[in-house]
Amino acid sequence: MKTQPIAPAQLEFSADAPPRSPLYGDLYHPQVGALAQARHVFLGGNGLPGRWAGRARCVVLEAGFGLGNNFLATWDAWRGDPARCERLVFVSIERHPLRREDLARAHAGTALPALAAQLIAAWPPLVPGLQVLDFEGSAVQLLLALGDVAALLPTLRLQADAFYLDGFAPARNPEMWQPRVLKALGRHAAPGATAATWSVAHALREGLQTAGFEVDTASGIGGKREITRARFAPRFASTPLPNGGQPAARSAFVVGAGLAGAAVARALADAGLQVSVIERHAEPAAETSGNLAGIFHGSVHGDDGPYARLFRAAALQAERSHRQALRDGVPGCVDGLLRLSDGDGASDAALLQRQALPADYVSAHAAAAASALAGVPLSQPAWLYAGGGWVSPAAWVQRALAAPGIRFVGEVQAGALQRCAEGWRLLDAQGHVVAEAPIAVLANAAGAGALLIPLGHVPWPLRLTRGQVSHWSAPTQPRPRLPIAGDGYLIPLPDGGLLCGATRQEDDADATLRPADHQDNLRRLQRLAGIQGPDQGWQGRVGWRLATDDRLPLAGALPLAHMPTGQRLDQARLLPRESGLFMLTALGARGLTLAPLLGRLVAAQALGAPWPLEQDLADAVDPGRWIVRAARATGRQPAD
Ligand SMILES: Cc1cc2nc3c(=O)[nH]c(=O)nc-3n(C[C@H](O)[C@H](O)[C@H](O)COP(=O)(O)OP(=O)(O)OC[C@H]3O[C@@H](n4cnc5c(N)ncnc54)[C@H](O)[C@@H]3O)c2cc1C
Ligand SMILES: C[S@@+](CC[C@H](N)C(=O)[O-])C[C@H]1O[C@@H](n2cnc3c(N)ncnc32)[C@H](O)[C@@H]1O
Repeated sequence: MKTQPIAPAQLEFSADAPPRSPLYGDLYHPQVGALAQARHVFLGGNGLPGRWAGRARCVVLEAGFGLGNNFLATWDAWRGDPARCERLVFVSIERHPLRREDLARAHAGTALPALAAQLIAAWPPLVPGLQVLDFEGSAVQLLLALGDVAALLPTLRLQADAFYLDGFAPARNPEMWQPRVLKALGRHAAPGATAATWSVAHALREGLQTAGFEVDTASGIGGKREITRARFAPRFASTPLPNGGQPAARSAFVVGAGLAGAAVARALADAGLQVSVIERHAEPAAETSGNLAGIFHGSVHGDDGPYARLFRAAALQAERSHRQALRDGVPGCVDGLLRLSDGDGASDAALLQRQALPADYVSAHAAAAASALAGVPLSQPAWLYAGGGWVSPAAWVQRALAAPGIRFVGEVQAGALQRCAEGWRLLDAQGHVVAEAPIAVLANAAGAGALLIPLGHVPWPLRLTRGQVSHWSAPTQPRPRLPIAGDGYLIPLPDGGLLCGATRQEDDADATLRPADHQDNLRRLQRLAGIQGPDQGWQGRVGWRLATDDRLPLAGALPLAHMPTGQRLDQARLLPRESGLFMLTALGARGLTLAPLLGRLVAAQALGAPWPLEQDLADAVDPGRWIVRAARATGRQPAD
């Protein structure tokens, strides 16, 4: 998907009228009040709160987030309802999001000050794509999709129970209400879904009917005689895309207790499942995820292609996750990270301006300005990722696994995976049953293949790269204020010491710490920040980065080991899936950036919840992508 830069909303505020958009020539809500309209038209028109009573999850899809009043009113109704659903997922698409200061101004006199304050505090950097904001300990989730509704709707994977159609008036904003947008709503409708809007425009009602809705009217509010209500009743039900999901599952097991396993286990437990995490070591994070400290940050690229978009979405989720972990006592720092740039400061700044990327995500600095930020002399310009930083991976894993609902099972080597009545059964190396559950997730790095190949799966093109980090625990001078990345990275540790990494050696299984590698890291320290480190007294750790040949991770439902005859193989999203079997691995050198978002993606797929990532980005990390590539390369279409 080609992204369009985000142009934040321009608002006109006045003392006696609701905020107005000069771009659309319309008010954000009627004079009668945004919350009154939200309750009457959008909640009432969709039969909420009543329709969510007793349900595990209710998904609302809104077109036009605007000031967020509909979200706040829905959240407020959820809070006040003793029969509320367990989880409320509010997905909202917005082309011109408000700047944080405008959002604060718009809610200055709100009747829901506590909720508005939480929304303003959580308001994210305004970048294209999906971002997930958690409230109420993640029982209420806001999936904000920033961009044009027509471009974004087809990239979302969700089944909505209620639609809030809240663009500006169709006469002033026909794009928002065009038939292809309304038709796309039908493709996202759960059985029994409803829709509501204050507009009774003929074209809108006709468009909804074409999309499979039965359209009705109800009494209006604030000078509007009538509003539109609709109920999804398609004449032909479309076949949903395969996802391997098990929406009714209440338990799962995860193999591997590194960053990947901990992230998925936590996302599943947050969704209410009982999760067993099976690990061959006595403690979690005993292998690659056990370093003292590691960095995380986003990515920028001239064409804003899938790699840049994936790492941006992941870095923003990582920032939210790691900030929370820091509040819970995990060592780390999220005050920004400098990444040295091979460009010159001016062309980097021009690129950011072209993509309209905001400074709370990334900014570009010439060498002198970057040096001032770093507090040490840098010889190159640098990107400042404002929400980047460092965190202790081992402590992050331990904290994630400490959540209610997670049971850590150490010193068990997973030896075999079998299908069973429950779904999946895991056996240990002696053949004893270790776990059974409807959902199984393989997050055991290079060990996943040994469990999958006996089931007929073809091994993935994976490579292990040895790496050694070096750290010095005595106070050092000079030291940077922020982590610095480039050819390797440098982290100022809280004890005054430094951590520097990391060496790279292909096909090297040597687990011993090498003095030559410490020397290599010392040279890296010099190149990155002009720091002459002490020669003696370095400690370190060795690990192996696991990466695929396209350097993107493996995250998602396993495709069937044997494709049915006649199966289309040209798109990963069409491939049939093993029911309830997922993987998350090959995080390469970016586990701290990728794990929080991809853990949520896998959990969403497993539970049939709205995906936190656009479909084309999920395709980019799909374990089935080599099946598609092989089919394209050989022209073998469909399966035979
Ligand atoms: C030197 C070095 C520096 C790095 N620096 C950074 C950095 O700064 N920032 C960053 O984001 N990333 C960094 N990385 C990468 C990061 O460490 C990895 O991306 C991440 O740790 C991978 O996590 P994982 O959970 O996939 O794998 P692992 O941490 O290896 O976890 C897999 C777990 O599965 C268990 N397991 C395997 N097979 C079985 C089995 N059959 N039964 C039971 N258990 C099993 C293992 O014991 C292990 O605990 C670095 C890596 C290296 C090597
Ligand atoms: C009436 S306001 C929404 C009010 C909002 N629901 C609330 O509760 O405050 C309409 C919103 O639709 C957005 N919008 C207009 N055209 C759009 C498009 N093509 N794609 C996505 N959003 C669009 C506008 O920027 C504006 O914020």
